[in-house]
Amino acid sequence: MKKCCVIALFLTCALTLLAGTVMAEDMPGPDSAKLWEYITTVDPYTEWGFWPDHEGMQDGRAPHGPKHKVFVNATGLKCMMAPVMPGTIEVKENYSEDEKELLVITVMYKIKGYNPDAGDWYWVKYMPDGTVKKAGKPAGCIGCHATRVANDYILVHEFK
Ligand code: HEC
Repeated sequence: MKKCCVIALFLTCALTLLAGTVMAEDMPGPDSAKLWEYITTVDPYTEWGFWPDHEGMQDGRAPHGPKHKVFVNATGLKCMMAPVMPGTIEVKENYSEDEKELLVITVMYKIKGYNPDAGDWYWVKYMPDGTVKKAGKPAGCIGCHATRVANDYILVHEFK
């Protein structure tokens, strides 16, 4: 290989690594206020995608309410199997029956090392204005979602 190619290759690798590090550092820790800021301004969840088997408005079950949308960030959408990668965020908008009123926003955020006993998920329940109702490792959230540990606590999408 020519010397310039080696240098170019080295630079590409270095830049990729750097970009990865910067992105990871940009992400908040287990902090509900910082996470709210992140999902509403830094990387707005309304611009994310959906799991291919759960797109747009869907019927929901208790306790989350009759209608919902589950937005998934780019890191999550890259995951083809469980467990998903750290940095994955799912934001669930919970709506009224007539789909007009946004009632509650529930979030699952995978933070490496945060809670190894329960899939390293950080759980938050927000009101639509960002007020925090629950955050951290609530036994309720974990207990119910733990029915699908093999699917990484995710209920709306099936990893094959
Ligand atoms: C009684 C069971 C139960 C409890 C408690 C519960 N969930 Fe859920 N959750 C569900 C079900 C069922 C779904 C599937 C979607 C639906 O039917 O609304 C779901 C879906 C979700 C999703 C969409 C991502 C996914 O694939 O699972 C998020 C995010 C979520 N819940 C967050 C939370 C948070 C945060 C809490 C605690 C504040 C919580 N859940 C408590 C049953 C529960």
